[in-house]
Amino acid sequence: MKKGSLVIVGTGILTPAHLSQESINRIETADVVHVLVPDPLGLSTITKLNSNIKNLGELYFDPKSNKNGKNRLDGYKLMIESILSDVRLGLKVCAIFYGHPGIFVYPSHECISKAKKEGFDAQMLPAISAEDCLFADLGVDPGDLGCQAYEASQFLFYRHSINTSAMLILWQIGVVGDETLTKFKPSENGMAMLKEKLLEHYPANHLVTLYEASTLPTMEPRIAEINIDKITDIQINAITTLYIPPLANPALNTNFCKRWNVDISQLQ
Ligand SMILES: C[S@@+](CC[C@H](N)C(=O)[O-])C[C@H]1O[C@@H](n2cnc3c(N)ncnc32)[C@H](O)[C@@H]1O
Repeated sequence: MKKGSLVIVGTGILTPAHLSQESINRIETADVVHVLVPDPLGLSTITKLNSNIKNLGELYFDPKSNKNGKNRLDGYKLMIESILSDVRLGLKVCAIFYGHPGIFVYPSHECISKAKKEGFDAQMLPAISAEDCLFADLGVDPGDLGCQAYEASQFLFYRHSINTSAMLILWQIGVVGDETLTKFKPSENGMAMLKEKLLEHYPANHLVTLYEASTLPTMEPRIAEINIDKITDIQINAITTLYIPPLANPALNTNFCKRWNVDISQLQ
């Protein structure tokens, strides 16, 4: 194994409360820490743990200046190179992303895969994601009837089969419909497209929740319930996640249960 290593950790959604002890330890003992967190509290928390910080936010795509490429993907590529260049120097590198570092974080997976291919030790630690907060705040359990989760634009652009008997979680509705990766709000028709697609599967009065986990200790989560046909009329923010509860229980597979002598009276 070459000298130089990479560990990728997550801050969780509420910093510092969600930072795991294991992540704190890896941040404190790193030679250099690369950070991409949205809130100033997150950045100041990390800086107290290790003062040798490189703020990846400076490499984020900026539509006004065109400084970091032509879209978000270009900015992420710059971040990947910045992190890996320190690993290649033989340093013990820690990279930090908010929430769970492996959920909707393109640069983290790319860094791990490239570092491993180049012969470096590379590892990701788990952390608390927005979805974990959603289960806690909304009091819903993915184990009850199952759970599907999609990135909102991919949900629109691809023919995903939807199981209305399981919960559906749509991430990144704040940029829904933007295939260019240049916007920081839904595309002009993004929410209308989403409504049209959902109404193919759900009745107009199906109650859904726009969810925003608290990102500050003094802040309450946003839990806005609304009929599915009204999702075009409500404020959508960069951190909004859409939760769609199951419509009905799934139908029992009676033939299968009979063949295997399953006692269906025991089924919950
Ligand atoms: C680039 S992803 C980052 C996800 C993050 N890595 C995680 O583990 O939660 C951004 C999306 O995560 C969701 N998200 C981020 N912060 C959130 C919050 N405070 N409440 C609800 N959803 C959030 C939204 O769907 C948002 O569009």
